Amino acid sequence: MSESFADKVLNWFDAHGRKHLPWQQEVTPYKVWVSEIMLQQTQVTTVIPYFERFMKAFPTVTALADANQDDVLHLWTGLGYYARARNLHKAAQKIRDEHDGEFPDTLDEVMALPGVGRSTAGAVLSLSLKQSHPILDGNVKRVLARYYAIEGWPGVKSIENKLWEVAEAHTPEARCHHYTQAMMDLGAMVCTRGKPDCDHCPLQQGCLAYAQGRQADFPGKKPKKALPVKKTLMVVPCFQRNVYLAQRPSSGLWGGLYGFIECDSEQAGRDTLKSIGVDEIQWQPLSPFRHTFSHFHLDIEPVLAIASEPPSGRIQEGNARWFDIDNTIEVGLAAPTKKIIKQVTQVL
Ligand code: ADE
Repeated sequence: MSESFADKVLNWFDAHGRKHLPWQQEVTPYKVWVSEIMLQQTQVTTVIPYFERFMKAFPTVTALADANQDDVLHLWTGLGYYARARNLHKAAQKIRDEHDGEFPDTLDEVMALPGVGRSTAGAVLSLSLKQSHPILDGNVKRVLARYYAIEGWPGVKSIENKLWEVAEAHTPEARCHHYTQAMMDLGAMVCTRGKPDCDHCPLQQGCLAYAQGRQADFPGKKPKKALPVKKTLMVVPCFQRNVYLAQRPSSGLWGGLYGFIECDSEQAGRDTLKSIGVDEIQWQPLSPFRHTFSHFHLDIEPVLAIASEPPSGRIQEGNARWFDIDNTIEVGLAAPTKKIIKQVTQVL
């Protein structure tokens, strides 16, 4: 009998799969979960240093649950998609409060954690506890969509369901943890989006996209919509080498991160500055730039508001205060905020 799909994948894994990633050493569900969340939308090479720092700061679920949100977001600064970090923190608290601090070991319980879908839950339980569950992350969708020439964009429920069906059909009982890692690796290393290396693919024989020379057609693309453009003025109050940052509300764009004052006009900016005790100011435009989110472009016009006198009055209100730009800012900052601070250090 010919080798099964899973056997081909497992044999390939033995020779070529990744076995030395930091979350593959002394494996625990907690480590695998954190790594899986970081690896959503982010490359392995970027994730590694973040993962190491995160584990050092929060070695256990309980340590993460007990941490304050600013410290969690600070260690996430630069990874983007901050809802992932807020959900991770909330999920850790749920595990502390509802599971006695022990990472749950059933698919339903893991899927009930904030920020964890069926694929991530399956990956965590198979990679860490060797349970048998299918996964269907972006890499696996690509491998399967090509193998079966499944037409259409996987964001459509019926297409996604077809992919789950074939994912389930091939998931083995034995060595599922290796199979899970292998499918991820195959998607990341061989069956890549741009230039799949079909000559080194264990699934070449049987792959319909390969047979038809249509690798680039799968998976089908999301129908394109032009992203709307929004504009914002970011006022950067500064006095000597200090800038004023305020924490944003915990939900919404950059929730919980610290940022500059956003407003529609310089006049509105002036009013806000008054309220934080900054009166006499000199405006100095910084370089504008575009930040693109998944659902819109944001054209950012940063402007320095240089105070000529020390700020008076209520300057340390709530979660807003002055930060020295020559020291590490130990709160969560979105990428555009970091970019602006860098500009400030260069012009001041
Ligand atoms: N992407 C998502 N999970 C991964 C893993 N465990 N190893 C490598 N890349 C991944």
